[in-house]
Amino acid sequence: MSVATGSRAPVAPIFSFPYLLNPGRTLAWLREHDPLHELPGTDLLVLTRYADCVAALNHPDLSAAGGQQERREVSGSPTSMLNSDGAEHARLRRPGAALLGPAAVRRAEPIISAGIADLLDGLGPQADLTPQIARPIATLALAAVLGIADLERFAQCAADVEPVLDPRPTPAAAATGQEAVARLHDFVGPLVDAAAPGTPLHTLARSAEITRTDALGIISLATIGGWGPLAELTTVAIHQLLNQPNWGAVAVDPTWRTGFAEDVTRWHTPIPFAARRALLDVELPSGTIPAGRQVLIHLGSADADPQHFADPDLIRSDRERPRDHVAYGSGAHFCLGAALIRGVLPIVLERFAVRFPAARLRGSALVWQPVAFPRRPFSAVVELAP
Ligand code: HEM
Repeated sequence: MSVATGSRAPVAPIFSFPYLLNPGRTLAWLREHDPLHELPGTDLLVLTRYADCVAALNHPDLSAAGGQQERREVSGSPTSMLNSDGAEHARLRRPGAALLGPAAVRRAEPIISAGIADLLDGLGPQADLTPQIARPIATLALAAVLGIADLERFAQCAADVEPVLDPRPTPAAAATGQEAVARLHDFVGPLVDAAAPGTPLHTLARSAEITRTDALGIISLATIGGWGPLAELTTVAIHQLLNQPNWGAVAVDPTWRTGFAEDVTRWHTPIPFAARRALLDVELPSGTIPAGRQVLIHLGSADADPQHFADPDLIRSDRERPRDHVAYGSGAHFCLGAALIRGVLPIVLERFAVRFPAARLRGSALVWQPVAFPRRPFSAVVELAP
């Protein structure tokens, strides 16, 4: 096994192939010995402790625009909430929050709940978790909150734009991604233009602060950033549910399933890091980030930090402060999809447990794909009938 910093670290270097197979060992070592880790060959500092990550996410001198600049140059992506700061970020976030926030989710919940019930009713005696359950649920949930009726076309567009999440695409992948985004805009543009008063897309399009291009950008950001991670989290949540003792009985308890959904989100942390650039010298609990440095805030490591979470490797439904994790980030860029996921996941767990009380996994281990971003499991086959 090779080293992470100089010759001191007896663990795989961060982002090496062995790290991708098992990031936990490297992250534990970095949290303990090298919490502001200089990634060799880059100007990146990787933060791995919970306390540093939370402080960094909330620090006004760590810029998301600066953090995303290189990615924007490589991928040709336009200005968005995610890659802007200050007034520009607030201008885009306000209509985005109205489109995706708790009130919008409450309105969409009956449609989502009925859609999940129909989907589960239509399954045969076994199912491939990601393509047959998790991705269709991500599609119907996102479509319900956006008010999109053509699920088939939306699913295709969402799957096509998903690779745009990759923070370091090759030029060819970046070009393919931009073509996919253009196809998504060709699909949703006419829906936005023809949206009836009172519908989510109408409200978004008529927002005085933004242009039509901004509105399409908000929809594509939600689709690129939301669809894949929601599908992956749904796969992980059902998989881990089926590994809990007595899961059929506990999942019907609303308190249990809400706590479990929140903690499986922490445990998985599908978007494992966020990028920022220091505008000035920035003091963090573990040290100083010099002005100009690029920072990777390792959300996955923060959410596994034993200094903050007791038994971080266990998924527990009874944590005292269940929302204390950073899977959705923290501060100005806190995920606008959090309300949707917090609404949807407990419904999925309950519906699944009621509909398939005898379900079991064909193999019990969850196997992770060797990719850095997003953190993604392989699918798994579930036997649904006894
Ligand atoms: C499990 C699924 C998801 C996870 C783990 C997740 C995680 C995150 C994280 C960590 C950020 C902050 C990034 C940063 O600080 O640089 C973020 C931002 C964002 N997320 Fe999510 N997300 C998920 C699903 C969704 C969904 C379903 C939507 C849309 C419905 C969505 C919409 C957004 C938007 C619009 C932002 C940008 C907010 C801003 O910059 O102000 N996300 N998400």
